[in-house]
Amino acid sequence: MTPVLLCGGSGTRLWPLSRKSYPKQFVPLMGEETLFQASARRLSGQDDMLAFTRPMVLTNADFRFIVTEQLANVGIDPGPVLIEPEGRNTAPAVLAAALHAAESDPEAILLVAPSDHVVPDPQAFRAAVARGLEAVRAGDLVTFGIQPTHAETAYGYLELSAPPDGAGRPVKLSRFVEKPDEARAADMLAAGNFQWNAGIFLFRAADMIAAFEAHAPTLMGPVRAALEEAQADLGFLRLAPGPWAGCEDISIDYAVMEKASNLSVVPYGEAWSDLGGWDAVWRESGPDEDGVVASEHATAIECRNTLLRSETERLEVVGIGLENVIAVAMNDAVLVADMSRAQDVKRAVAALKEKG
Ligand code: GDD
Ligand code: MG
Repeated sequence: MTPVLLCGGSGTRLWPLSRKSYPKQFVPLMGEETLFQASARRLSGQDDMLAFTRPMVLTNADFRFIVTEQLANVGIDPGPVLIEPEGRNTAPAVLAAALHAAESDPEAILLVAPSDHVVPDPQAFRAAVARGLEAVRAGDLVTFGIQPTHAETAYGYLELSAPPDGAGRPVKLSRFVEKPDEARAADMLAAGNFQWNAGIFLFRAADMIAAFEAHAPTLMGPVRAALEEAQADLGFLRLAPGPWAGCEDISIDYAVMEKASNLSVVPYGEAWSDLGGWDAVWRESGPDEDGVVASEHATAIECRNTLLRSETERLEVVGIGLENVIAVAMNDAVLVADMSRAQDVKRAVAALKEKG
């Protein structure tokens, strides 16, 4: 099985730590490893359940040396590193991965995973992947399902055709709904037979290619051409910019998953987070009994439900009597926000961009 690590996103909701030039997956956000390193390690090596080949990585030119250096630091040899001339979202990236893998083996099994998620129990996750293989062998595109806790609109929803069996075996999907509006999200939560899409996909290369042929045929020509005309460069494979520019900017969720009918889900009952904002980082960092998370060079005095982070030894951050506050200090920027407004942090990036 080949892990395919996606690391093209810019993670604006974790500004100022996550930057366009150094996005969240490459920063040690939780613990000493970066999320990218943790993802690569989770999907590496062999055990009695799974055998992973070297990872395929899809990224852009700016991150190529960060990728190889961070992999080397955790002792992982990269497989093919495909360089996208520009971000065209996940559909073209996944198709490029499937076509590239199929060149040597159309039956190759790929596990496409974002590199910016937190999965605290790697063993449990590997066991879930192993359970999914049954559905992959039957020709399905396999998703991983998270039990929803609220009417989130930032996730895809998976409609299960039958209740899970308790052992986490794959269940056929009746429907995939990407990022519903609030009313639909509330309806699906109430219905009880929906899970969130974790954004991780397991499939045979040939099956994914067939799904693109059926549901997103206009991507086939440009992505094929971008691969055929790709330039090898210092061990990186640079996709050809001309054809790549002709790819529609669309996610795999909209391009394929909402339309395909050969879908299954492996319910995943363990902890998972996509760290979609500073509130999620606060939650995943293990707040103390007052709900406080304070990093090195940060001190909280009588605070509640507050995240204080200093990313620089030049700045001590001290909070007094704060409630529901996020404060993140970097060398060149400080964020102070209400915890409930964590999703609005992307507006900071837009506002600063406008200022130039
Ligand atoms: N290589 C590459 N190129 N990677 C990309 C690109 C690109 O153009 N665009 C996004 N990515 C990476 C991101 O860095 C991230 O790791 C992953 O692909 C998914 O993209 P997001 O932009 O984070 O997607 P999302 O969070 O809005 O939605 C997806 O994930 C949710 C769970 O976190 C969907 O699959 C949802 O259905 C799902 O619920
Ligand atoms: Mg995401």
